Amino acid sequence: MNYKIAVLPGDGIGPEVIDQGLKVLNAVAKKFNFSVETIFGQIGASAIDATGNPLPDETIEICKKANAILLGAVGHPKYDNDPTAKVRPEQGLLKIRKSLNLFANIRPVATYEILYESSPIKTERIKGVDFVVFRELTGGIYFGEKGRKEEGNVAFDICTYSVAEIDRITRLAFKTAQTRKKKVCLVDKANVLETSRLWRETVTRIAKEPEFADIELTAMFVDNAAMQLIQWPSQFDVILTENMFGDIITDEASVLTGSMGLLPSASVGTELALFEPIHGSYPQAAGKNIANPLATILSVAMMLEYLKEFEPAKSIKEAVNKALEIGQVTEDISKTNPKSTSEVGDWITNYILNK
Ligand code: IPM
Ligand code: MG
Repeated sequence: MNYKIAVLPGDGIGPEVIDQGLKVLNAVAKKFNFSVETIFGQIGASAIDATGNPLPDETIEICKKANAILLGAVGHPKYDNDPTAKVRPEQGLLKIRKSLNLFANIRPVATYEILYESSPIKTERIKGVDFVVFRELTGGIYFGEKGRKEEGNVAFDICTYSVAEIDRITRLAFKTAQTRKKKVCLVDKANVLETSRLWRETVTRIAKEPEFADIELTAMFVDNAAMQLIQWPSQFDVILTENMFGDIITDEASVLTGSMGLLPSASVGTELALFEPIHGSYPQAAGKNIANPLATILSVAMMLEYLKEFEPAKSIKEAVNKALEIGQVTEDISKTNPKSTSEVGDWITNYILNK
């Protein structure tokens, strides 16, 4: 098998962590006898610097020809405090989601024992936490009509959802739940929002289809869910939600584990999928070889699962577990004996090749 992978390193620590991800990808390719062809593209602040466009058309073309996309990180502080900037790195992200129709953002959250102490939540509460958030990614308030009226003194962002948009991500979430504990919690605000009521109606109807008879569906208002995620996170298996609520609760969920540096994600469409660490571009660490590459390496594992290369994916996850267990980790996890970004990548690569 030969896979074409579009690689978009992006900004800040993106290129460094991507290097480690590719090292590991090449290692499993060698070990499990498949080949990988990488094609690099630009996105984010670095693309603005080079071309004036946060997502040049050429990048979209590269992605469309690939079997999957691996992305580093997008963002630069020079844009953060300037809401009036006409072009922004994040536009690259929103545009790639929309133009490739990557409608489901999938973020697994699992806690690791070695990180219990680093979590802001008490160990007894986070033990055994293992859930996945399915966040709708191409609809809702993010992409609705927006603008100003009354001479700029009134602003609006419209939230719209169609049954078809809700339907496709719901089926994906249900199918994933069937490989897990079969519990799906729909997070919405159906006591206030009409779009949320359409979500409830649609999701409830699909749950009644014979194919999904084994799914246990519950629903929770988003404000309550925000609280439950802190108080009793281990109750969740699959969380299904719309774009904006998903943006907020995935950030909340990411701190439960004690390290943002460990969490991978997938953004899946009908034809293509993109894989990226959930952390940002962490500009303060860029070029210092200190960033944690594990989230990117685990994103490579998720990408391989998507390509149905389950054994290679498993061997990456095993190597990451081992690295955590014996302390082959960067300074965000180990204060006493931290390794560099490339040392962690090398260690994992060697472990895979020599095991
Ligand atoms: C995310 C990010 C993006 C979002 C930003 C950078 C546009 O927060 O991927 O969660 O809001 O979707
Ligand atoms: Mg976010």
